[in-house]
Amino acid sequence: MIQRFSYGAVVETNAVVGTIKPDTGVPSFGTVTSDSPFLWNYPMGPDDIVYGLGENMRGMNKRGFRYVSWCSDQSNQNESTESLYGAHNFMLISGERTFGVFFDTSSRITFDAGWTNPDTLTVTGSSTGVDFYVITGEGKNTSAEVSIVCQFRKLIGQSYIPPRWAFGFQQSRWGYRTEKDVREVVRKFREAGIPLDAVCLDIDYMQDYEDFTVDPRKFPNMKQLAEDLKAEGIHLVPIIDAGIKIQKGYSVYEEGRTHNYFCTKKDGTAYTAGVWPGRSQFPDFLNPEVRDWFGSKYESLTSLGIEGFWNDMNEPAMFYSDEGLAETFRKIKTFEGKNLDINSFFEFTSLAGSTFNRTDDYERFYNRVQMKDGRTEMQRHDNVHNLYGAHMTRASGEGLQKLSPDRRMLLYSRASCIGAHRYGGIWTGDNTSWWGHLKQEVQMIPALNMCGFLYSGADIGGFGSDTSRDLVLRWTEFGVFTPLMRNHSAWNTRRQEYYQYDHIEDFRSVMNLRYALLPFIYSEFVKSALSGLMYFRPLSFDFPSDERARRVEDELLLGESLLIAPVYEQNALGRYVYLPEDMIQVIWQNGQAVQQDVVKGDHFICVPLNAVVFFIKHGHLVPLCRPALSSDKLDTSDLAFIGDGTSYELYEDDGFTRNIKLEGNIRKLTKQAV
Ligand code: GLC
Repeated sequence: MIQRFSYGAVVETNAVVGTIKPDTGVPSFGTVTSDSPFLWNYPMGPDDIVYGLGENMRGMNKRGFRYVSWCSDQSNQNESTESLYGAHNFMLISGERTFGVFFDTSSRITFDAGWTNPDTLTVTGSSTGVDFYVITGEGKNTSAEVSIVCQFRKLIGQSYIPPRWAFGFQQSRWGYRTEKDVREVVRKFREAGIPLDAVCLDIDYMQDYEDFTVDPRKFPNMKQLAEDLKAEGIHLVPIIDAGIKIQKGYSVYEEGRTHNYFCTKKDGTAYTAGVWPGRSQFPDFLNPEVRDWFGSKYESLTSLGIEGFWNDMNEPAMFYSDEGLAETFRKIKTFEGKNLDINSFFEFTSLAGSTFNRTDDYERFYNRVQMKDGRTEMQRHDNVHNLYGAHMTRASGEGLQKLSPDRRMLLYSRASCIGAHRYGGIWTGDNTSWWGHLKQEVQMIPALNMCGFLYSGADIGGFGSDTSRDLVLRWTEFGVFTPLMRNHSAWNTRRQEYYQYDHIEDFRSVMNLRYALLPFIYSEFVKSALSGLMYFRPLSFDFPSDERARRVEDELLLGESLLIAPVYEQNALGRYVYLPEDMIQVIWQNGQAVQQDVVKGDHFICVPLNAVVFFIKHGHLVPLCRPALSSDKLDTSDLAFIGDGTSYELYEDDGFTRNIKLEGNIRKLTKQAV
């Protein structure tokens, strides 16, 4: 059951589909002690677990720390980080009383999950109203946890489903500067016999970092390039940034300026801040007319044969504002000629870096906002900050739907809030080549699934800092299972394409597992998207009364039958795994799957560096396809099986139709058919 309680003047966030009438009573879980700012307290039982909050640091159990929904360009991700790129305000409290809560609001909101007071969960809103949803389980055959997520996912609408090729591997790097670079990456992948479905283009493909342009010196014939690569089953996926360069004669800027499509200051003039191209202005994606316009701009690239995009810097990231910069220079000058002591020296050195993504800059401009009661009004940006990136995704998703009504397009974004999950996926931003960030992805991804973001994944190998061969390999072994599987890194780091390393056969073998599983992964993904079930979930969701399973933080259930337990420590011989029931262990090594029965309980499992170990629930069958160099070449008429079940219902379609339904697209595979 879902109840809605409404507090204050609520902005239309587009998170929820359909309407639930506001309840006039009080929530039966916890207490709302203030409407404005919103304040809710819940006394937690000693063993209660707090799940959810989507893209955030720390464990699957969020208890014991404080998190802030405030979409942030955050490349410094560590245990103290309270905000990342997404604002995913859904939590599931599992324990003495099990229920879900969703705080539908457009601005900053803080979740204190027993940090200030270990027994109290406190949620504090800010300037804007909040629609507070409370969800209780009603499953007969499922756990309360699964039922709550399912109901929540129905409330927020069906998750985005990309084309099937997007489940193939994507190679990316901020640093492929020219057509030659891109062709070389493709050639080396093909020479190495490692599958590849896409190459991402980072900002260097653009002319002067101007969206929807191509630099003709670096990419003289993008159309030809796209066509040549497509003939090999490889797609180009260019980046689009939120900021539009202020440049006379640049058509996107000129159109935006003529029609007043950019966010404005109080006096109605367009707001300016610096990003990659220097001084830029920011489309007001909250305005439907602006969304239509921006969405239509993708045609400049779809007309060249491009079928996928990643949207970036849409928190929006701002390096500086005119105002912030002026103030900083003024302050820096005051230090000139002074004897800098312990305090003034550090104050001085921090000044130049202080212009970046400043809260006061987000208070200097306005968006045209739709209110829940139907009115439209100008709101200061900080009131609706968390909607900005999501509405860029909406603009792109709706635009691409119009440009390509019959074929799905690939789209993923950096900033997001719930609602954006219907239009695109997300990648989890600028992580670092650290083992801890591999573990962080394992812990974050089920929370993203709870919030509707099924098509998601982290930069494999790590974005920032120099990686190592073993980290890339172990991360890829986990990436085998994530719907978005992309290796991406920053320009100033050690190269991390698989062909850079010795014993390339290890990478080939692991990647072949991805392609062998791809029809199954696609099938499980589509079923999860259509049903509201989770593709990835914590063990406790299927084994709620198993106290050990409830505390497992580094294993995941995947779809109907898999349990995965990635290795995330350097030099590890293997790892401890807790199995909540008897299962079949599969070890994939050198392109072969070997199975053996394992009983419920704790095990130390040896996992050689070039192997992937995972588990299948008894009574299930998992189809394996013969790997191919790209997903379009996979032959699903010839499948082998692992597991001891007798059948599997494989969802299959043409890979691009927009009209996705299970009926007519399920093929019942039986073991006899092998
Ligand atoms: C941002 C993105 C990163 C990208 C870079 C350059 O930092 O998060 O993925 O490579 O910008 O466009």
